[in-house]
Amino acid sequence: MKIAVFGLGYVGLVTATSLSEVGHQVIGYDADTDKLESLRNSEVPFYEPGLADLVSKNIDQGNLHFVDHIDWAIADSDVIFIAVGTPPKEDGSADLKSLYQVVESLGQMLERSITIVVKSTVPVGTNQAIDRALNALLESRGLQVSCDVVSNPEFLREGNALHDVFNPDRIVIGATSRQAFDTMRRLYAPFHFTCPLLEMEPASAELSKYAANAFLASRISFMNELSRLAETVGADINQVSTALGTDPRIGHHFLHAGIGYGGSCFPKDILSLRNMFWEHRIESPLTNAIQQVNSEQRHRFAKTIIEHLADAIDNSTIALWGLTFKPNTDDMRDAPSLEISQLLQKAGANVRLYDPVLNSAIKDRFPTDSQLEFVDDMYEAVHGADALVLVTEWTTFAEPDFTKVMQLMRTPNVFDGRNFWDPDFVRSQGFTYYGVGRPEIRFNQKGG
Ligand code: UDX
Repeated sequence: MKIAVFGLGYVGLVTATSLSEVGHQVIGYDADTDKLESLRNSEVPFYEPGLADLVSKNIDQGNLHFVDHIDWAIADSDVIFIAVGTPPKEDGSADLKSLYQVVESLGQMLERSITIVVKSTVPVGTNQAIDRALNALLESRGLQVSCDVVSNPEFLREGNALHDVFNPDRIVIGATSRQAFDTMRRLYAPFHFTCPLLEMEPASAELSKYAANAFLASRISFMNELSRLAETVGADINQVSTALGTDPRIGHHFLHAGIGYGGSCFPKDILSLRNMFWEHRIESPLTNAIQQVNSEQRHRFAKTIIEHLADAIDNSTIALWGLTFKPNTDDMRDAPSLEISQLLQKAGANVRLYDPVLNSAIKDRFPTDSQLEFVDDMYEAVHGADALVLVTEWTTFAEPDFTKVMQLMRTPNVFDGRNFWDPDFVRSQGFTYYGVGRPEIRFNQKGG
């Protein structure tokens, strides 16, 4: 099939590339001409393992093109994907400006019936509104054509995008005609997915996306809240998580306590969902709590470090390992490292920052400040430091040379924001170890 993808951000580019990889002819369009130029040279403007190679391969094979004219993108297309960003506005609602700009352009340029697929995460009812707006524009031009508008939300995770896009758990399709469902089935046929293709009303498809993200975030916040109790009563939240997740009705995913979630999706989608509840005047104590617990968690963690160092915090040196909101990405949106480093700085610490992908996308998110220093080596970060803080669990940090770390640090304090390391092992190396919801006294040490 011939497909156009509007919006070449994270979701759009991964979608365009995967569709070209299975043999569709794909044209990508974006309003940012610099981005298009980079993409034509197979330069992906963000860090995602494997994506640049796949873009390059499909450009070379002639399946993937990037154009800066909307009319070129839609000229022969059977299906148009819209994957533009829907960032939160100040009130938390999704900003649909870019989305409606695309709809407006399509309404002015389309000459024939076509299937429009909305990949962007949009508030419930948006697909129906787009359907009305687009078809009204076409009608106002005197055209006897009608476009199907399909909701097809994306569930991929940053850092795992290629795995997720080729191995989804489900494909959700929200449409109002049999023809639209059949077009989507033909589009996905070359992927040979074994997962279900779920057909539903557009409103249900739209809400499914918010439900998935809010539900996963609620599991994280529940565990983080529980970790506070665990710490106080002498339970280890990691052991609780294992016991909990072993129940097949619950499962192990997203039960990992730590400093909370960040990124472009969970924070934004929870705000947008909360806004939908408000708009419809429905109370949602749960949605509010998910977000509140998450934001408190970072503060609590920073407070623990500050209280532990006490008077020694002033002019201390604290090393932060991992700055991105999660491993395998250079995405800094709502990354806990930003707030944690700021709180430590405010308390008087000098903060040394290290991340395996220390590019300008990461550095530019931090303020220029004499108390902040970026270093290119994880061990250089801990040189003379009074605390080592693990913020993001990149695999590079899985088994550090703790003997070396011990020799380099001035005061051997380890604060593990992701419960990534074995507390007993780290303590056996002579460090003071603090995890989240993992107290020092453990029952299995009794009488040992
Ligand atoms: C998420 C959804 O997983 C994906 O389906 C959706 O399409 C987009 O949003 P992403 O934001 O890329 O994907 O990352 P994810 O791996 O889900 O992690 C989100 C955040 O939760 C990260 O900050 C991560 O560190 C945190 N997290 C995750 C926890 O704190 N504990 C966990 O147990 C799992």
